Amino acid sequence: MLFSGTTAILSLLLCLFMLVWNCKAKASIPGSIFCMGIGALLSYGRFLWTGIGNASNYYNEKYGDMVRVWIGGKETLILSRSSAVHHVLKRGKYATRFGNKHGLQCLGMNDGVIFNCNVTLWKKLRSYFAKALTGPVLQKAVAACTDSTTLYLNKLPEMTNHHGQVDVLMLLRLITVDVSNRLFLNVPMDEKEVVSKIQQYFDTWQALLLKPDIFFMFKWMYQRHEAAAQELPKAIDNLLEKKRKALLEAEKLDDYIDFTSELIFAQSHGELSADNVKQCVLEMLIAAPDTMSVTLFYMLMLIAQHPEVERKLLEEIDTVIGENEIQNRDLQNLKVLENFINESLRFHPVVEFSMRRAIEDDVIEGYTVRKGTNIILNMGWMHKGDFFLKPNEFSLDNFHKTVSNNFVHNKYYPGSYKSNFPFPSPLLFVLF
Ligand code: HEM
Repeated sequence: MLFSGTTAILSLLLCLFMLVWNCKAKASIPGSIFCMGIGALLSYGRFLWTGIGNASNYYNEKYGDMVRVWIGGKETLILSRSSAVHHVLKRGKYATRFGNKHGLQCLGMNDGVIFNCNVTLWKKLRSYFAKALTGPVLQKAVAACTDSTTLYLNKLPEMTNHHGQVDVLMLLRLITVDVSNRLFLNVPMDEKEVVSKIQQYFDTWQALLLKPDIFFMFKWMYQRHEAAAQELPKAIDNLLEKKRKALLEAEKLDDYIDFTSELIFAQSHGELSADNVKQCVLEMLIAAPDTMSVTLFYMLMLIAQHPEVERKLLEEIDTVIGENEIQNRDLQNLKVLENFINESLRFHPVVEFSMRRAIEDDVIEGYTVRKGTNIILNMGWMHKGDFFLKPNEFSLDNFHKTVSNNFVHNKYYPGSYKSNFPFPSPLLFVLF
């Protein structure tokens, strides 16, 4: 009798536990069917065929803001719900990225920061980036941007073809590489050569990121990409050689020790390897030319298409700066400009998604997420949602109001973090 009483209580508790558990973790996230692997192959095929951004948009439109698909046989979630995106970005459980391991190895990215797969190393390397992107460098950034832009605008006649046209994107790429060099490396460099190698490196990255493992079983298939990926690291080796020489010859060190010098000192203290130093410098140099330059290009296009926005920007610049040289302290008063930057990044984002991998089991919005699950944060899609006044239109009204802290704590919102102009807001957001 006693036994059956205890059994009954235990059974009741077990039922209650199961009930609570089921409420906490919902059965499954909507998405394409598995169907003996055929569905998984089809979703992977869509990613390879149309690209990650287009495929993510397709699935978010079809199944909603939390979708489950497969990439390379791995379960992959595509998230465009702001609270789910916020959950992933704010938790240490999703610090690593995903991509084909061999592909990332060809690029050296597996041991870097931007596409790291090794959390311990990432934490160590990241501290050098965080230091280099805050404090004194922010003070120097305004001057570096102004000097570099002036330099290249003076060279405009050399960059104009016989039809009177300028390759504006190339011009912006050269400026951004030059600014990065002034701030983080500081050695004489052939910017054109570096820009072309960076583009080659990105092309290889795109080609290898999601390739199936079978592609790396045959050397003849991937050796062309492998060779292309080596061009930029070789150029970085040469730049590092110059930097080491300059440091040895320097009579005294500047008050401000730049990013590359910090890395070289860390290597001489045995904290970093030569490969770590090379990969960090490479990633710092590639970070701007394919993000900042394209973003600036879109911004110029948007200004040309919206003369009323141009007028407002010019009026503000006239009032705040006038005929003076721009100073750091002016930046906080350029509110229309900040609004314009946020809206341009929302409307025409250069990076529409971010790729993460769960390093522990977790629950997102009531759904169980197992360790090893791939996550795509589809922020481009998220920023076209109803939260904005005119989601499908370029309008400064979309960032007109400051967002309340209440909202920010619960949801991820693009304009919610404090922007430390002139570094792009997304950059600061991802780093801190
Ligand atoms: C408009 C310009 C830029 C955009 C849109 C952009 C976007 C991004 C995105 C989407 C990521 C990956 C985020 C993630 O998965 O969490 C990233 C990472 C990163 N970016 Fe940028 N970026 C920009 C400019 C820059 C610049 C100028 C630098 C450096 C000078 C930079 C340095 C980095 C670094 C170091 C990381 C890795 C952060 C980490 O792992 O913690 N970015 N960026």
